[in-house]
Amino acid sequence: MSQRMQQGQPMIVMSEDSQRVKDKDAQDYNISAARAVAEAVRSTLGPKGMDKMLVDSMGSVTITNDGVTILKEMDIDNPTAEMIIEVAETQEDEAGDGTTTAVAIAGELLKNAEDLLEQDIHPTAIIKGFHLASEQARQEIDDIATDIDTSDEELLRKTAETSMTGKGTEVNKEYLAELIVEAIRQVTVEDENGDNVVDLEFLNIETQTGRSAGESDLLEGGIVDKDPVHDNMPNSVEDADILLLDEAIEVEETDVDTEVSVTDPDQLQKFLDREEKQLQEKVDKIADIGADVVFCQKGIDDLAQHYLAKEGILAVRRAKKSDLEFLQEVVGAAIVSDLESATADDLGFGDVTRDEEDELFYVEGEDAHGVTLLLRGSTDHVVDELERGVNDALDVVAQTVSDGRVLAGGGAIEVELAGRLRDYADSVSGREQLAVEAFADSLELVPRVLAGNAGLDSIDTLVDLRAAHDDGQITAGLNVFSGDVEDTFEAGVVEPAHAKEQAVTSAAEAANLVLKIDDIISAGDLSTDKGDDEEGGPGGAGGMGGMGGGMGGMM
Ligand SMILES: Nc1ncnc2c1ncn2[C@@H]1O[C@H](COP(=O)(O)OP(=O)(O)OP(=O)(O)O)[C@@H](O)[C@H]1O
Ligand SMILES: [Mg+2]
Repeated sequence: MSQRMQQGQPMIVMSEDSQRVKDKDAQDYNISAARAVAEAVRSTLGPKGMDKMLVDSMGSVTITNDGVTILKEMDIDNPTAEMIIEVAETQEDEAGDGTTTAVAIAGELLKNAEDLLEQDIHPTAIIKGFHLASEQARQEIDDIATDIDTSDEELLRKTAETSMTGKGTEVNKEYLAELIVEAIRQVTVEDENGDNVVDLEFLNIETQTGRSAGESDLLEGGIVDKDPVHDNMPNSVEDADILLLDEAIEVEETDVDTEVSVTDPDQLQKFLDREEKQLQEKVDKIADIGADVVFCQKGIDDLAQHYLAKEGILAVRRAKKSDLEFLQEVVGAAIVSDLESATADDLGFGDVTRDEEDELFYVEGEDAHGVTLLLRGSTDHVVDELERGVNDALDVVAQTVSDGRVLAGGGAIEVELAGRLRDYADSVSGREQLAVEAFADSLELVPRVLAGNAGLDSIDTLVDLRAAHDDGQITAGLNVFSGDVEDTFEAGVVEPAHAKEQAVTSAAEAANLVLKIDDIISAGDLSTDKGDDEEGGPGGAGGMGGMGGGMGGMM
């Protein structure tokens, strides 16, 4: 090989396994990955959205309608897709609901951005336009939102019901909404400025299988789902002094491995006596400080159980750490981790009552600081999905109580926002204007998908909705059951404004993050589908095509 030819060769600075995708191919690769993720969850949106069944590598099954749960459970191995999943996670952390909406909008923004890129509009212009539109959208949401009286329980219940519609919670949503609003009311305090502060730390969710969701309950205080360690213990204790113990009531083991060799029976007896004495001392200590009930996070030795029963003390072993932490608030106790130094001051005070049917204890504090929402469902899968739905609704009500701003759902807010953004676009100069318009179009994905999932014509629906909004009907949304356009606010489809703001902002930011990339340098194989390797080499997005198709197939 001649010297000259070698000089003409590109300098290789990356390892053989690494891959590089540039410019248009990089954009294509990223956009199709992001869209694949968004499309995977779209079919779950709204009251008529369907659920997904996810089976993990261990074979365990999750059945859910919750956007963030679907995306977390899907075994996604693609860097861009993971950025979109972060949108759902942020939405879950910040708002608790609206994860499907946020991801769907992000996907639609990228789809529309792709069209603009084809028209040779530079990514930075699109990014600028999206940013302007999202800032404007936040202002408009604030303008459109209705300020409510946060003590209006009827309206709070509606926000909870809207959030639970279309989920496992659907059939019992009225009853559950009542429990949820009451639960939030109990853990809400006013700060010095007169603002509502919802402290979800004081709210505990417990689940039980075996009965129907309609038999769920709100209890003042906490629950311990355990049995007494000994049959001869009292079952219920009123006005009890309660010890929360994070130490085993067992013989203390030495740190080092020891071997004790006994040469005559006396020695053995002495050894056993010593152990007995140690256990007796521990129980005496518990009795001395005046405890009537012990919830122990660790084990309790058989003999100690017997001593405790003799003292008439109710004891429970291997209680959940989270339960003890919650009980701390409920009965005003300290969790004791060294029994020897415990005093009467560490004890809490309250009533402990046994529910024989459900085989659990209710623990009520003097002036109960905490409440427990006991969710019931026939099977584990039912209860799990119920819990996810109730969690969303709790966040929604908590936000509404502290923020006080709500919006009309069923696509009403999205269509109104889109209209206003199109007006705003007129004031934006240059190519950014097109991006603002594309942003407006993307928001209208929500009513389109709501209609599509309900088996309605999405174009007709959008045309009707736009006409109503042009007519000044700000709260005109879709009744997914009749297919008519109606005032969804009046109909009780109400959502918190904060969640929508968050969804729009994080969708825009994620889209912009993806659009700014024009070069992907990967240390390993970029393709997720190894079978596509021949076509999916550097400079091609073949591997992603496989993924997009695969996930699209989930719809
Ligand atoms: N009765 C109803 N009629 C019309 N639209 C409704 C009704 N109830 C809820 N919606 C709409 O459904 C959408 C919410 O659907 P869904 O709860 O499935 O998704 P999400 O809240 O975005 O995500 P996730 O709940 O999975 O985190 C909102 O746009 C809401 O306005
Ligand atoms: Mg929801």
